[in-house]
Amino acid sequence: MRHLLSTQDLSLANTIRILDTAEEMAAVGEREVKKLPALRGRTVVNLFFEDSTRTRISFEAAAKRLSADVINFSAKGSSVSKGESLKDTAQTLEAMSADAVVIRHWASGAPAQLATSGWIDAAVINAGDGTHEHPTQALLDAFTMRRHLARLNGTDSTGSNLSGLRVAIAGDVLHSRVARSNVWLLQTLGAEVTLVAPPTLLPVGVEHWPCAVSYDLDSVLESGVDAIMVLRVQAERMNASFFPSTREYSRRWGLDDARLARLDTLGMKDTIIMHPGPMNRGLEISSAAADSSRSTVLAQVRNGVSVRMAVLYLLLSGDLRDPVARLQSPS
Ligand code: CP
Repeated sequence: MRHLLSTQDLSLANTIRILDTAEEMAAVGEREVKKLPALRGRTVVNLFFEDSTRTRISFEAAAKRLSADVINFSAKGSSVSKGESLKDTAQTLEAMSADAVVIRHWASGAPAQLATSGWIDAAVINAGDGTHEHPTQALLDAFTMRRHLARLNGTDSTGSNLSGLRVAIAGDVLHSRVARSNVWLLQTLGAEVTLVAPPTLLPVGVEHWPCAVSYDLDSVLESGVDAIMVLRVQAERMNASFFPSTREYSRRWGLDDARLARLDTLGMKDTIIMHPGPMNRGLEISSAAADSSRSTVLAQVRNGVSVRMAVLYLLLSGDLRDPVARLQSPS
């Protein structure tokens, strides 16, 4: 693997390798030595055509903790406004010696285009493309769930999968690259996933995805879940026809105060609440749920740095090549 474009490209072995390496990176971060020399002399370009807080800052922190040089590019304020193409923009940045390009783009497929067109030689990492995929978000979510499971079982998370973990992913699945990447990765790791959404916010063909689908959040919660991942309502990507009224959405599909309380009465004391951010508080999630002791929202952000360190390190060191390629050309 030269690029990270989709969680569908990740084998179980490579997924576990990334999560285990992220554990090692986290352990370094928790010690006094905050910086590793692993990518000294390498350059990582953050190429962002869409807004981001968590992903962009997290990739920057990850690259710097590995001693790489970082170039941050944001389409706003760049020559993209003068009509410069993706190809010319990427080649301009590669001329500054990029070894890895982390790209977020509003167009689904833009990272794959960059990786397969031959325009650049750098490793390409998808940091979220349109409504398609957000693989490093799914990896940090899996890392967070694996740590939670290990804590519950009193075991070490290293080497383990998510076999049997029951995960509900609730909300605007239609526009969610986070949901797509999670469904595939969680299936690879052996978790049982149920998508919960209004019918108008489910994509065509979802019945062929490797997960269950429901319109009824209450019945899914009553059946028992170990993690509830609440998705952001992506108002900027939809028109009124997609959307139940805000009030109805919140009442039927929101993780509100009443549903938060019901987790206790249903005896789900260890169920965690996840959200990739940014959150619409009061719409898909109440403040009480977002700030509760069950919430892993900030842990997800913290874990994102370790996971992105692992992805950058493994891609740039060649450790995610398939075993045959590794043996033919050991680095
Ligand atoms: N979760 C996520 O991708 O957040 P940002 O849009 O802030 O990067």
